[in-house]
Amino acid sequence: MSTFEVTSELYSESDFATINTPNGNSVSRFAFVLPAEQNSKSGKCLNGKNREPDPDCNNEERAQYIDPITHNIECEHKSENDQSECLKCVPFKRKESLPQMDKDGDLVVERKQKDVIEIEHHKSTKLDLVGLQIWRGALLLADYIIYNEKKFKNRKILELGSGVGLTSVVSSFFAREVICTDINVGGLLDLIQSNVNRNSHLKNPDCNVTVTELDFKVRYEDYPSELKSTLQDVEYVIAADVIYDDDITEAFVLTLESLLLELPKLKAVYIALEKRYVFTVEDMDSVAPCYEHFLRVFHRRNNRFGITRWKLMQVPLTFPRYFIYEKVKELVLLKISN
Ligand SMILES: C[S@@+](CC[C@H](N)C(=O)[O-])C[C@H]1O[C@@H](n2cnc3c(N)ncnc32)[C@H](O)[C@@H]1O
Repeated sequence: MSTFEVTSELYSESDFATINTPNGNSVSRFAFVLPAEQNSKSGKCLNGKNREPDPDCNNEERAQYIDPITHNIECEHKSENDQSECLKCVPFKRKESLPQMDKDGDLVVERKQKDVIEIEHHKSTKLDLVGLQIWRGALLLADYIIYNEKKFKNRKILELGSGVGLTSVVSSFFAREVICTDINVGGLLDLIQSNVNRNSHLKNPDCNVTVTELDFKVRYEDYPSELKSTLQDVEYVIAADVIYDDDITEAFVLTLESLLLELPKLKAVYIALEKRYVFTVEDMDSVAPCYEHFLRVFHRRNNRFGITRWKLMQVPLTFPRYFIYEKVKELVLLKISN
């Protein structure tokens, strides 16, 4: 591992009302708004046949497949010769919200719920301690979870490589259980636990949050039996910004493969990441080597037996931003499902 100091880009986008603590850490305040009417998403993806809202259609219907060879993104709904707009890929239409009046004729003002997550973290670290910082992927995934409250409500969620725990805290607004995991370096698990405690007033009162170690480099067979047993009813796996080092990426893919095979209730895995581009002489182009490596390793494992076992899709980032950060074009949200 490199001994270079690294700093999350996020801290240059807002000061997050950061204060320094006596122990040398920082505490930042991540303000967010919840939608006025959670999931009042009247606009549904339009079914191509009758243009009626399709009740079974959700965000993922509009997700786009990633070609295993070219890594190009393809729409799943159109034939090759069809140049017309794919109706299933038409962005959700939101009903224009007309001003509402109460029974006395007064205007009903939509109040958005504003709140703040307080997170203790480091401002810069060596590469092997990047989990002590907060990265844009964590906020992108948090936005996706807020926008899709219905999907995550009362579900059991496992977060991998949680860092200081922000996305797990957001998951706890809606889920019935969150297992927040990472490796135990630099006091990371204690820091997550303290961040979970610090924000416990925000969580759904019925939600149980546990913090435990899950190291991608440990094989599923060697997990403690207690961990294996608690993973059994996990329904969603989430991970933000864990694709930045080839060794870790390879271990991460093996972890995903085990979880996809072993967890009977698992519906989908969501992975947020930021493609980090570098210019290489070999390619004479800017490439995102870590992202490309992830796709290569994943497709290799996915097609190990000559059949494609899981679908890998790119979720369009058309959902709103509830946190303050730059939704840069390098951000990506992937979904893996059966
Ligand atoms: C760039 S940080 C992202 C942290 C957090 N998810 C975020 O987006 O703010 C990468 C995370 O991957 C974790 N990680 C690195 N190696 C790991 C391993 N072998 N097993 C599990 N997690 C690992 C790090 O500890 C760190 O929390």
